[in-house]
Amino acid sequence: MTVRGLRALAGPVALALLGAAALSGCGVIPGTGPVRPVVEHGFERPLPIPPLAESRVEDGVRVFSLTAQAGEQEFAPATEPGTATPTWGFDGDFLGPTLRAERGEQVAVEVANALDEPTSVHWHGMHLPAAMDGGPHQEIEPGGDWRPEWTIDQPAATLWYHPHPHGATEAHVHNGLAGMFLIEDDATAEAALPREYGVDDVPVIVQDRSFDEEGRFRFEQDGAEPGELGDTILANGAVGAYHEVTTERIRLRLLNGSTARTSQFTVPGHEMTMIAGDGGLLPEPVGLDALRLAPGERAEIVLRLEPGETVRLRSAEADLGGVAVPGVMGGEAAFDVLELRADEELAPSPEPDWPESAHAEEDALHEQDVARIRDFTLSGREINGRRMDMERIDVVARLDETELWEVRSTEPIPHSFHVHDVQFRIVSVDGEAPPPELAGRKDTVYLEPNRRYLLLMRFEDYADAEHAYMFHCHMLLHEDEGMMGQFVVIAPGEDAPERLPDAGGHQHGGE
Ligand code: C2O
Ligand code: CU
Ligand code: CU
Repeated sequence: MTVRGLRALAGPVALALLGAAALSGCGVIPGTGPVRPVVEHGFERPLPIPPLAESRVEDGVRVFSLTAQAGEQEFAPATEPGTATPTWGFDGDFLGPTLRAERGEQVAVEVANALDEPTSVHWHGMHLPAAMDGGPHQEIEPGGDWRPEWTIDQPAATLWYHPHPHGATEAHVHNGLAGMFLIEDDATAEAALPREYGVDDVPVIVQDRSFDEEGRFRFEQDGAEPGELGDTILANGAVGAYHEVTTERIRLRLLNGSTARTSQFTVPGHEMTMIAGDGGLLPEPVGLDALRLAPGERAEIVLRLEPGETVRLRSAEADLGGVAVPGVMGGEAAFDVLELRADEELAPSPEPDWPESAHAEEDALHEQDVARIRDFTLSGREINGRRMDMERIDVVARLDETELWEVRSTEPIPHSFHVHDVQFRIVSVDGEAPPPELAGRKDTVYLEPNRRYLLLMRFEDYADAEHAYMFHCHMLLHEDEGMMGQFVVIAPGEDAPERLPDAGGHQHGGE
C-alpha cells in the first residue's frame, strides 16, 4: 500500500486527534502541523482586474489561447517587499485572463502547456462534450497543446477554468492556475445589471495561501484535513486589495477559488443582493446578510453604496453545519477580503429589471421526468466505497434523461460536491426546500454532514461512450486522494464499454 493509501485509512484516527487537540486548546495538532490564524493586512493595493482574454474570430469560431506557465509574483505585505514568490499562471505569473463569450457562440481555446509537468484545463460549469471537458483524460504533456472547441449553449453565468490533472489538481490550482470564464446572453443584458467589466462588474477570485520563510507558497501536502488552509487571503492574487467604486451599484462575481476553505461572505452594515449562483441568474434576486461558498462555488452579488462610503467584503465565521472541530476546518476564521471605496460622486446605476427568462430556464428540469434515482455517499476519500479509477465507469447516464442524485456525506468533515457537464437544481435538503440562495442552477454544492441533498439534473446534447465526465469533491485534497467518480452519457440504444481506455502514461500522484 502506498503512503497515500495509509493516510486515507488513517482518516478517522486523524479526526480523533483533531478532536483531542481542540479539546486540549492546543494550537498544534499531532502529525498535522499548526493551524495558522488568518493574518490581516492593510487594504492598500488596488484590486488587480484579470485582463479580458483577447480572441480572434476564424471561420465563425471565436478562438482564445491560454498558456500555462511558471512565473513569479510579489505578495507583499504578506511577504517582505521585493520577495519573488514562484507561481504558475495562464499567460502571466498568477491566475489567468477572463474569457468572455456570448451564448450561441462557437468557441475554441488553444491551450499550451509550458510547464515541466502534465496539466489540463477544465471549464468548470460548462455544458460541453466530454472530450472537450479538460478533465484528467485530457492532460497536456509539457510542451504540448490541446484545442477544445464547442458551442456555448447555456444561460449567462460566471464559470471558471482550472487544471484537473489526475492526483495533482490541488497543487496546480494552489500554484496559481485558475481564471474566470464569463458567459453573457440577451436575457441578462435586459436585466439592467451592472456590466462594465472591471468597473461595476468585478470578478473577485478569493483564495488563501501561506508563505514559508523564503516567501514560497507553503504547500505541505501532508494529507491533513481539510487540505491546505492558508493564513493569507488573496483577492485576484492581491493581499489587502481595495476597489474604487464609481457607480451606485456594483456587481461582484465571487469565486471561492480556495482549494479547501469554505467562506461565509458578508458586507457588514449592508444587505447583499444575490442575483446569480453557479449556473446563472436566480429565479429572483435574494437579499442576504451572509452567503456561504464552498471551494468551486460562485455567486454574483450586487451592492448599493452611498457616496463616500467605505465597506468591506468579509469572510465571517462560517457555519459549516455539523462539522466536528470547525476551527480546524477553517470555520472559526473571520477576516476581511476586499475593501470597497465609493467615490464622493457616484454615477447612477439603473434599477435592475428581472427578466422572465430567469424562470423559464428552470423549465427543462421536471421532477416528474425522473428516470433514475442514484445514491452517492461520501466518506473517507471514497464515493460509494470507491476511490477514483481512471478506467472505471461509475455511472452510465442516458442522453435526454432526467436523474435525481441523492448525495450525502456521512462524516463530520466538509465536502463540496461538483458534477461536470450539467447544471443541477437542488430539489431538497433533508426533505425541505433549499434556501433561496441555493435555488438556481448549480454545479457545486456544499454538503453539510449527514444531510440528504437531492439534485435534479438532465443529460442533454452530448453522448459519447468513450469519454467520461467527472463528479467529485471540490476540496482538492479530497479530489486528488480519490473522492471522484466518472460518468458517461450514452445515446439511446447504445452500450457503454466495460472500461475506459487509460489516460496514458503520465498519471501522477495516485497509485
Ligand atoms: Cu472545478 Cu472537476 O472541477
Ligand atoms: Cu467542473
Ligand atoms: Cu471533500
